[in-house]
Amino acid sequence: MFSKTSLLSLLAAGASAQQVGTLTSETHPSMPIQSCSAAGSCTSVSTTVTMDANWRWLHTTEGYTNCYTGNEWNTTICADGATCAANCALDGADYSGTYGVTASSGDLTLKFVTEGSYSTNIGSRLYLMASESKYYMFKLLNKEFTFDVDVSNLPCGLNGALYLVEMDEDGGMAKYSTNKAGAKYGTGYCDTQCPHDIKFIDGEANVEDWTPSSNDANAGSGKYGTCCNEMDLWEANVVSAALTPHVCSVEGQTRCSGTDCGDGDERYSGVCDKDGCDFNSYRMGDQSFYGKGKTVDTSSKFTVVTQFITNDGTDSGTLSEIRRIYVQGGKVIQNSVSKVSGVTDSNSITDAWCNEQKTAFGDTNSFEKLGGLASMGGSLSRGMVLALSVWDDHAVNMLWLDSTYPTDKDATTPGAARGTCETSSGVPSEIETSAASSSVTYGNIKIGAINSTYGA
Ligand SMILES: *[C@@H]1O[C@H](CO)[C@@H](O)[C@H](O)[C@H]1NC(C)=O
Ligand SMILES: *[C@@H]1O[C@H](CO)[C@@H](O)[C@H](O)[C@H]1NC(C)=O
Repeated sequence: MFSKTSLLSLLAAGASAQQVGTLTSETHPSMPIQSCSAAGSCTSVSTTVTMDANWRWLHTTEGYTNCYTGNEWNTTICADGATCAANCALDGADYSGTYGVTASSGDLTLKFVTEGSYSTNIGSRLYLMASESKYYMFKLLNKEFTFDVDVSNLPCGLNGALYLVEMDEDGGMAKYSTNKAGAKYGTGYCDTQCPHDIKFIDGEANVEDWTPSSNDANAGSGKYGTCCNEMDLWEANVVSAALTPHVCSVEGQTRCSGTDCGDGDERYSGVCDKDGCDFNSYRMGDQSFYGKGKTVDTSSKFTVVTQFITNDGTDSGTLSEIRRIYVQGGKVIQNSVSKVSGVTDSNSITDAWCNEQKTAFGDTNSFEKLGGLASMGGSLSRGMVLALSVWDDHAVNMLWLDSTYPTDKDATTPGAARGTCETSSGVPSEIETSAASSSVTYGNIKIGAINSTYGA
């Protein structure tokens, strides 16, 4: 995450009040997608992307003073959440210069580290927009979602994530009148980790009990978290990939505090399923399927298809299965089949498969407890927002994705081996330098009826 520490004073004076800054104009990069009919004919939709509010420069409505610098609030301006929301403005983004985000013909490239004029930016998270002020709402029950990805320049420790979260279409503006910035400025994030590092939740700054991170110069955590269902279509790097539905007992974006957030020892007492039910081919016992030179060859671009099958084959049915298909070099590649003892030889996610996998790996089954696929399907029918991101992991170095984790387990322990990265890899302070020039490219997004968006 990012915050500016200084600004040229040549800019025209006067941010407008109402918590939207105008020192940099906000121009959303274009990222058109295609919507396809059952017969396979596709039409273009003129969508754009916006940068999440957390990455944006936050300054006083009156001028140039930072409300937040590094990982700390200015507690004079931000004595409490409501005052802070009234006093501070989120500004427009210089997408390529500050954040290393570039768009071209439906492709979006996110650089990991960007040296801007005023700051160094680490990672980014953007959302797809239907209009200037509304997120695009994906309703994917009985539909499929397809995109191209290039992870060849994403080494161990990095995660290029493309996923859906049940945020409000307007970023929460209608629900919380003190949020004047809305979706246009990337507000309203939530996910199943109920993150505490979000600077504004429910129209208020998360300043109460704010604690700067001990190992992240740009992040901290406040009293509140922000929770919602999350469908991880894609969390991956050049070594490993995971497909993971996560669910919550709450519907839509929900602020949490205390036990409900499921922090630390209370991981399985919160309102969301932080583990999810993951399909990672390597973890499921097929170590030759995904990676450089493997069946899905991560040294070049490929296409990822995710299908949301309902029990009765209609848009109003219950989500019963999540299927994955890859396409590379004109060839359709079926997902790898589970090779774990005690787990059905299947290449898709169903509730029964999740239960078997949790038992085989000795994992707590919070996915089932909090509603399983039916709950995920509820979000998919109500509508979810697409997030496109690249990040490194200040908590556990992304080892849960690409290495052996927990690190004290032997790699032969069922479920422990997730990829070939060393257990010592992925340390942010190292890779933010050694892998600074890493990037991920997403593109060619298509949605439509089952089997309509890829050349079968
Ligand atoms: C915090 O804000 C006050 C009021 O605008 C300002 O005088 C002060 O310099 C700021 N502190 C820092 C560290 O920027
Ligand atoms: C999609 O294609 C698969 C095989 O490629 C087939 O088994 C399935 O029935 C198809 N589904 C629909 C709804 O067309």
